[in-house]
Amino acid sequence: MSSKLIAPSLLAADFGNLQRDIEMVNKSDADWFHIDIMDGVFVPNISYGMPVLKTIAKHAKKTIDVHLMIVDPDRYIKTFADLGSDVLTVHYEASTHLHRTLQAIKAEGMKAGVALNPHTNVILLEDTIMDIDLVLIMSVNPGFGGQSFIENTYAKIKQLKELIIRKGASTIIEIDGGVTTANIKALADAGADAFVAGSFVFKSSNQLKAIKDLKAVANS
Ligand code: DX5
Ligand code: ZN
Repeated sequence: MSSKLIAPSLLAADFGNLQRDIEMVNKSDADWFHIDIMDGVFVPNISYGMPVLKTIAKHAKKTIDVHLMIVDPDRYIKTFADLGSDVLTVHYEASTHLHRTLQAIKAEGMKAGVALNPHTNVILLEDTIMDIDLVLIMSVNPGFGGQSFIENTYAKIKQLKELIIRKGASTIIEIDGGVTTANIKALADAGADAFVAGSFVFKSSNQLKAIKDLKAVANS
């Protein structure tokens, strides 16, 4: 079985020392940088936008995994490709023409992801799963870091894994929100492949160790 992936979310980084925090992730056991883009409309919060991502991409030496929490994401697909995104994830709930959006993301050379809010059932991906490189299951309501994990996530992972296997898709499953060393093993066992962690990493007094521990426990 392939190695489980860790994606620290820079939403919880120290923005006054962003380059320092990026360099920490560069030299850590992490696999990806997770970048949360919020518009204050799809979610009740605004994070950061294009100029900040441009700076992150200049220093980041790992895969850039962008999670768009914005309405009408089609407007910015090319922009995020040009900024250096490797994976671009849009919300199912924000996409009127999801199939077209997925093709447009891939046409720009990126991996195409779909995020599901906690209330959105995985069965809604039955007709698009073959076109999706990554499904991001929100294990908190999107908009803020530091929230508590929603337990129903395990059932959703199992249901999604079953759909992926049944269809013969090669989609990977990413979990976002409230991930810690206490739940990452059970999430991995349920079928998840990649794990976003914001607070657990950046609020730790030893961030390199926090990432190392997540990676080790996920792969144990
Ligand atoms: C929430 C974001 C998450 C967030 C996770 O809307 O999508 O990526 O940064 O933060 P933690 O790990 O603190 O729950
Ligand atoms: Zn996210």
